Amino acid sequence: MGKLTVIDHPLIQHKLTIMRREETSSMQFRQLLTEISALMGYEVTRDFQLEDVPIVTPMGPAVGKKISGKKVAIVPVLRAGLGMVDGLLNLIPGARVGHIGLYRDPETMKPVEYYCKLPKDIESREVIIVDPMLATGGSLIAATEFVKERGAQNIRALCLLGAPEGIAAFQEACPDVDLYLASIDEKLNEQAYIVPGLGDAGDRIFGTK
Ligand code: PRP
Ligand code: URA
Repeated sequence: MGKLTVIDHPLIQHKLTIMRREETSSMQFRQLLTEISALMGYEVTRDFQLEDVPIVTPMGPAVGKKISGKKVAIVPVLRAGLGMVDGLLNLIPGARVGHIGLYRDPETMKPVEYYCKLPKDIESREVIIVDPMLATGGSLIAATEFVKERGAQNIRALCLLGAPEGIAAFQEACPDVDLYLASIDEKLNEQAYIVPGLGDAGDRIFGTK
């Protein structure tokens, strides 16, 4: 079973509450999502390996640390995952960005793929799939399967909100992928929206609807 981490830092919880409020504008919503993604990025990258590196400070020779090992690929699930990319790129500016286009069919609630473009060395990268909403889990499971089919071997997933049903489905389907969330919400409603949630993340980010 993959590790499940709920990042309950007070700054994240405070900002998340503002995002949830229906009167929060798209401009604020995007800004807060970027800020939260960067804060969550600290935790998502906590187990990255370090190696010693010899340096010279103004005081003389010393041994510093640098991140060793795999390079990073950030893979947003379109559309709403796009809102999490800039915050992570602020932390990891050298990361490559792949895109997976999925939408949830409103009748069946099942994910439909319409786009996939990944860095070509995806198999040797540490992949962080990002999508703010983990509702039934169908989209995140499909996105994870797509990147695996294209060779990715080291994958972690970063979401803002998860419903218990979606988290359970994801952990069952992708037991080798660690999952990071800012909140486990109460439930899904009849339309498979997260409750209390924040509504439709894509619409709130891009001001559509
Ligand atoms: C939302 C969200 C997830 C998906 C979650 O995307 O960003 O990708 O729903 O639902 P699930 O866990 O039940 O699959 P949506 O399909 O609304 O597309 P959009 O981001 O383009 O609005
Ligand atoms: N997608 C969203 O954007 N919000 C939800 O609550 C569920 C799926």
